[in-house]
Amino acid sequence: MSTRKVGGVFSVSGPVVIADNMLGAAMYELVRVGHFNLVGEIIRLEEDRATIQVYEETSGLTVGDPVRCTGQPLSLQLGPGCMGRIYDGIQRPLEKIAEITKDIYIPRGIAANALNDDDKWAFVPLNFKVGDPITGGSIIGEVQENNIILHKIMVKPGVAGKVTMVAPKGSYTINDIVMKTEDGGVVTEHKMQQFWPVRSPRPVNEKLAGDSPLLTGQRVIDALFPSVLGGTCAVPGAFGCGKTVISQALSKYSNSDCIIYVGCGERGNEMAEVLKDFPELTMEVNGKDVSIMLRTTLVANTSNMPVAAREASIYTGITLAEYMRDMGMDASMMADSTSRWAEALREISGRLAEMPADSGYPAYLGARLASFYERSGKAILLGTPERVGSISIVGAVSPPGGDFSDPVCSATLGIVQVFWGLDKKLAQRKHFPSLHWLLSYSKYLRALDPWYEANHPEFPPMRTIIKEILQTEDDLTEIVQLVGKDSLAESDKLILEVAKIIKDDYLQQNGFSDYDRVCPFYKSVWMMTNIVEFYTLARKAIENSTAENKVTTHRIKSTMNDTIYKIVSQKFQLPTSGEDVLVAHFKALNQEIKDGFHAFEG
Ligand SMILES: Nc1ncnc2c1ncn2[C@@H]1O[C@H](COP(=O)(O)OP(=O)(O)OP(=O)(O)O)[C@@H](O)[C@H]1O
Ligand SMILES: [Mg+2]
Repeated sequence: MSTRKVGGVFSVSGPVVIADNMLGAAMYELVRVGHFNLVGEIIRLEEDRATIQVYEETSGLTVGDPVRCTGQPLSLQLGPGCMGRIYDGIQRPLEKIAEITKDIYIPRGIAANALNDDDKWAFVPLNFKVGDPITGGSIIGEVQENNIILHKIMVKPGVAGKVTMVAPKGSYTINDIVMKTEDGGVVTEHKMQQFWPVRSPRPVNEKLAGDSPLLTGQRVIDALFPSVLGGTCAVPGAFGCGKTVISQALSKYSNSDCIIYVGCGERGNEMAEVLKDFPELTMEVNGKDVSIMLRTTLVANTSNMPVAAREASIYTGITLAEYMRDMGMDASMMADSTSRWAEALREISGRLAEMPADSGYPAYLGARLASFYERSGKAILLGTPERVGSISIVGAVSPPGGDFSDPVCSATLGIVQVFWGLDKKLAQRKHFPSLHWLLSYSKYLRALDPWYEANHPEFPPMRTIIKEILQTEDDLTEIVQLVGKDSLAESDKLILEVAKIIKDDYLQQNGFSDYDRVCPFYKSVWMMTNIVEFYTLARKAIENSTAENKVTTHRIKSTMNDTIYKIVSQKFQLPTSGEDVLVAHFKALNQEIKDGFHAFEG
């Protein structure tokens, strides 16, 4: 990257550097600061003075040190080879840096390309021949990046004209020219890689409403508070409530085509855990087990890395997700945690002496969060062939003390459609995932109705029953505390019993066990079917019982002890046994429940 010297350092305050003699520099232009070539971005320009946020440690910078402009905004290098990588907040590949430096620390000012220049990729041209008209975003070829990812090579949005050259099928590096186009006499060369500024959303043709579920393998989420592919979700929770475990489970098991996991300002050991766990996990593709790391890119910006880069890491993550979406994939981005990003905004804003709003956060906090979440969604993409892709965003929020009225939390809640509220009390009781069923909500239920109608028509009414039971149980608990359990009506006693089953044996799911680390949706549906079957039949039996043949909850419990035991142990069925085996088991249990209640009749 060529640089031209313009200005010099005027003052340094933590990550914020003010430089003068900066005439000619542009907003959000990338600059290299000082003799170490620290990476920074211009965030304010006043006359010839520029305010720069520096993404690296600034100690040692002195007044008068040179500041060089690069003439480019902070951009990502996108192309084959970006999956399965670990980047820092400004897309420097960490493995490569480790190789170059043989050190555990990232030296300041180091530059390394995000993609490997010499790797050869088997390029297969598609869709276009010489003379064809072409528009931005069109797919011109593909590269099998790894066993999972078929990387579509696209021309950049904004391109127009006629194709004048297409490279034949063959092996190319990302710097080789694979297509030339001509528009009004201007010839443009296209490579397999492209650069895209992180702060501008990649354009799409038309945004659509999401209509198929983001299945996560977590029962409480899939069954009660589902999101759609292309949805926005927030996971707020106090420390230790399981935010990280949920975002990791999502990246491991959700039905997305690719995952961008941004560790933003969280502890380094969590990132280390991701690095250790992910490569060991596999998924089956064409009968072969392949590592899920192949569909994952990690952006690591841990708590000991410079704060200014947290913001960059969020933008890097979402831009990568947009690039993958543009290929027609369902991408998911996890950001753990957006609160750390907000803290970075607060720190920078404080140093810029801006007027603080709520709790010292800048007044534009809500707008920044919104502009990030707005980059999610399902969309018809640019160019030919016509295709649809989506980005789902799951953002963890760590409000201090688990107080959901914290500014970051409330700003996020105004934006997202799904709220998975983690409850400290549940976490303390070791009820995981600690999603509170009365607090959490999803606004996508209606959007998903057609999908359920087509795939599991029996499911929505059952979900309503389950939610009613949980709500009634909450009301009853207060009464029980006042007057004791014995004074309740039989039907209410039944509700308490069933609610206990739902909470302990359905919603609770140990993320570290073989049988429950992932729960396929059919299993969630069948487990719910049997619980609801038991409840409705028991309720009927109680309501229809006569004075001579009185059916009580207690009586049902003692006569159907074995069956109830089977209902509460449904989750121990191993998904690895296969759908047929599991469904046969659940069907047999369903029959057993029906037979059990026959005995009470007459
Ligand atoms: N689904 C789960 N199954 C079993 N245990 C869980 C589950 N979720 C969380 N835990 C337990 O809770 C602990 C804390 O979870 P986690 O690290 O995700 O919390 P966190 O909300 O990210 O906390 P922090 O705010 O400190 O980052 C985990 O180490 C694990 O022992
Ligand atoms: Mg965490």
